Amino acid sequence: MTTSSTPGPDPAATAVDDAAAADAKSADPARARERRPLVAPQPVERHGPARVLALCNQKGGVGKTTSTINLGAALTEFGRRVLLVDFDPQGALSVGLGVQPHQLELTTYNLLMERAVGVDEVLLKTGVPGMDLLPSNIDLSAAEVQLVNEVAREQTLARALAPVVEDYDYVLIDCQPSLGLLTVNALTAAHGVIIPLECEFFSLRGVALLIDTIDKVQQRLNPELRLEGILATMYDGRTLHGREVFSRVLEAFGDKVFDTVINRTVRFPETTVAGEPITTWAPNSGGAIAYRELAMEVLSRS
Ligand SMILES: Nc1ncnc2c1ncn2[C@@H]1O[C@H](COP(=O)(O)OP(=O)(O)OP(=O)(O)O)[C@@H](O)[C@H]1O
Ligand SMILES: [Mg+2]
Repeated sequence: MTTSSTPGPDPAATAVDDAAAADAKSADPARARERRPLVAPQPVERHGPARVLALCNQKGGVGKTTSTINLGAALTEFGRRVLLVDFDPQGALSVGLGVQPHQLELTTYNLLMERAVGVDEVLLKTGVPGMDLLPSNIDLSAAEVQLVNEVAREQTLARALAPVVEDYDYVLIDCQPSLGLLTVNALTAAHGVIIPLECEFFSLRGVALLIDTIDKVQQRLNPELRLEGILATMYDGRTLHGREVFSRVLEAFGDKVFDTVINRTVRFPETTVAGEPITTWAPNSGGAIAYRELAMEVLSRS
């Protein structure tokens, strides 16, 4: 008769687990990567003219809106004046700042389509001092169709923003998840594009098409446009999958990838419900610190 094995942890298996945990830590490409030194931003004496950045990715749910709100709020902590443009008919940016889009009389749609409507009439102050908002709602979806018949249709947003560009240090445009005419308008109005990229298997699909669109807009409509940086979002360094995707992003885009990586945390969905940025809602959280570091990188890249 054979004796049954002693209960309790198998020492061999435990050793394997420990080794795997140590490997996982050293193999985390986001932590292993050498960070360029963060430079404390200098205060500004005068505001403007703004650097216009479009947060763009035709893939949905990658962190465009979250990054627009929180990068904007973080930039104000460094004394910058910021205008956020909700350029998505879903109005998620407006909701994320506590605005009820369906109750609005005037939105970005009116600004684009009606000559008589000035930017000052559409602008809203947000709860964050120094940060204003051009809100949107579902009306904006009609602009995509109606703009097709306009002269210089791709420059409509750039023209609409021109009167206020002097008043801000940064204008951040939250694009909708498509590469249609609204997004082309955002790219035409922008100096730089930030591409938020979720660290998930399919995230790299479609980025080539996005880069191609950026190149075309740069050649045909807006020679100033450049890729400001790729922002890895929703990163989970504990999973092999997350680490592999991040490594591939680094391989593909090298220095263009911001050193700051935004980790996956439930705190972001919570802030949407709260209607305020993470920098004020949970100022000491990892997410708030990460967006402050991103703001420093953005300031040093400009
Ligand atoms: N770092 C993060 N960790 C966890 N959840 C996040 C993170 N960033 C954003 N989220 C959540 O993921 C969802 C999608 O984020 P967000 O709305 O910012 O993406 P988006 O690219 O703007 O989406 P869309 O393409 O629909 O406009 C939201 O519920 C948001 O709260
Ligand atoms: Mg969005």
